[in-house]
Amino acid sequence: MRSRIAGTGSRLPDRIVTNRDLEAMVETTDEWIVSRTGIRERRIAADGEFTSDLALAASRHALAAAGLRAGDIDLIVLATSTPDMVFPSSACLLQKKLGIRHGAAFDVQAVCSGFVYALATADQFIRSGMHKRALVVGAEVFSRILDWKDRGTCVLFGDGAGAVVLEGSTDAGILSAHLHADGAYADILSTPGHVCGGKVLGDPTLKMDGGAVFKLAVRVLEESAHEALAANGLSVSDVDWFVAHQANVRIISHTAKKLGIAADRCVVTVDVHANTSAASIPLALDVAARDGRIQRGDLVLLAGVGGGFTWGSVLIRW
Ligand code: UT7
Repeated sequence: MRSRIAGTGSRLPDRIVTNRDLEAMVETTDEWIVSRTGIRERRIAADGEFTSDLALAASRHALAAAGLRAGDIDLIVLATSTPDMVFPSSACLLQKKLGIRHGAAFDVQAVCSGFVYALATADQFIRSGMHKRALVVGAEVFSRILDWKDRGTCVLFGDGAGAVVLEGSTDAGILSAHLHADGAYADILSTPGHVCGGKVLGDPTLKMDGGAVFKLAVRVLEESAHEALAANGLSVSDVDWFVAHQANVRIISHTAKKLGIAADRCVVTVDVHANTSAASIPLALDVAARDGRIQRGDLVLLAGVGGGFTWGSVLIRW
């Protein structure tokens, strides 16, 4: 028994913010942002639009693609670092909005590796038979935790949500998942503020050592890809689609080059989505599944990396 992706979906907020728009807000240029990151524009959630709202639209989209109704779902695993509230989890808020009153729902917090962590988790529940059909969602409103005066970070991120429906299968599906973490790197990417005594204590905006993150990301994405392929007796030439975390087009192309994966086998959406953290991989998957690139039978390699630090892979026979 494996778990296979029966449908994908996504939701981007309506508001587009271009690099030119950012030129009016911080000392930056479209040329700098494009040459250093590949990002041209990002979506920003409207006031009052929350993670669970984006997750709801992405989930409905994925359910429709799978030909299922919300009531068919008995597990929701939602990856986010920007939940609607301290609690309940955004997964429970999504469950309520979908009108589901059975099964289990919980959030996973692994920052930009969140979707890979969530998919690996849901895969275990489906393969064990404990749950029948899962919604696995990555949804974020990172615009809410950015320092809009810090040009080193505010130009990099965007909001959005992606979702997949996972169900049992006897043929195609998830071949393997490998997860890693090393908390020793906690300081190079963090949002250190917390709620205490009715106040936010510490800085509630994202802080990053961009150079250190870049180097670590390229190293662990390459290691994750090799680990996934070796565990399945496959090689780089077997990979039809490489879907890495969409943080920076240079991180994706450096990693692909080191692995020997051709540029046209890499799914890239960071140019129009920017870095949507846990939503980046399911958003990219939905784009490539809907435009016909990813076909049944294809070998799809997902590789995530993010704060924590966390990283890992999921290898899928689509
Ligand atoms: O999901 C994981 C999340 N994070 C990431 O993946 C980020 C990983 N890191 C990166 O993508 C890159 O390190 C950055 C895009 C953040 C930076 O690119 P870089 O080529 O490493 O640039 P840099 O940090 O070496 O900065 C070069 C210069 C600096 O000026 P000085 O000190 O050389 O005078 C920065 O102050 O660029 C300056 N700079 C900017 N200039 C214009 C930084 N941000 C901007 C900006 N516009 N937005």
